Amino acid sequence: MKKILLPCLLLLCINTSYALNPPDLDVGEEINETCAGCHGEYAEGGKGGEYPRLAGLSASYIENQLRLFRDRKRPNIPMLEYLDKGQLPEQEIVDVAAYLQSIQLLKKLPPIIEGEEFDAYERMMMTKHFLNIALFDGDIEKGKKLYNRECRSCHGKEGEGDIEKGVPMLAGQYTRYLKKQVKLFIEKKRIHDIDAPDEQLLIDFTEEELNNIFAYLSSADDK
Ligand code: HEC
Ligand code: HEC
Repeated sequence: MKKILLPCLLLLCINTSYALNPPDLDVGEEINETCAGCHGEYAEGGKGGEYPRLAGLSASYIENQLRLFRDRKRPNIPMLEYLDKGQLPEQEIVDVAAYLQSIQLLKKLPPIIEGEEFDAYERMMMTKHFLNIALFDGDIEKGKKLYNRECRSCHGKEGEGDIEKGVPMLAGQYTRYLKKQVKLFIEKKRIHDIDAPDEQLLIDFTEEELNNIFAYLSSADDK
């Protein structure tokens, strides 16, 4: 049950509650046609991380980000024209988020075996579902230690995120995009931990330490 507060008229506020329907994946798939122009047909992201991967992100995380963009609490100018003026009602937010969470990308393509029949079309379709993050330059071992100490408790054992708790994956996401987000957190243009908005975690790291964490995360994607 979600609550929505309709605009207040003087002191008279109307507080209505309404129930959203369970997510409809078919509707979500249709809505995704709009998103695909930037984020890719399979939500694999694009332009080297200018558009982040959305496939497999937690639905509740996606929902929250769409609301934050819409309410201008997280910067995202390119998306505003799709979110302004009630263009994406709550039910559609829920539908598209559930659809995006359900998309599974491949990290590896199956090997081509000599002598076995090879379906070129099937392989081409597979490459569209494929996302492997390029190795980022840094000390993977040092990055792994720091990650385990400082990030793992929330972002998961190997950066896979937490679907239930709405924590985004870090492994399998474009490094360029992640770096941009860290900058936004440090500049306080985006809030990292909603439960502790004044948290300074990322500020305390040197550039080198952060790069080591990104190197580790980019390698965690290869398994
Ligand atoms: C015009 C291009 C464009 C379109 C269309 C677009 N997006 Fe985005 N989206 C972006 C950009 C750019 C970012 C990254 C913003 C940043 O770098 O902070 C983004 C970020 C996001 C994020 C945040 C991902 C994360 O890991 O936090 C979500 C969720 C998202 N978009 C969902 C959608 C959905 C759902 C649609 C379709 C209804 C959509 N977007 C349509 C450009 C677009
Ligand atoms: C206390 C839990 C917690 C810890 C510890 C934590 N994070 Fe996060 N992180 C979150 C949450 C929650 C979000 C999503 C924020 C939101 O909903 O807008 C997030 C988002 C991010 C994002 C943005 C991802 C995206 O898709 O836009 C990056 C990058 C990130 N964290 C990096 C890190 C790094 C690096 C560390 C360790 C140095 C770390 N975080 C430690 C909870 C945490």
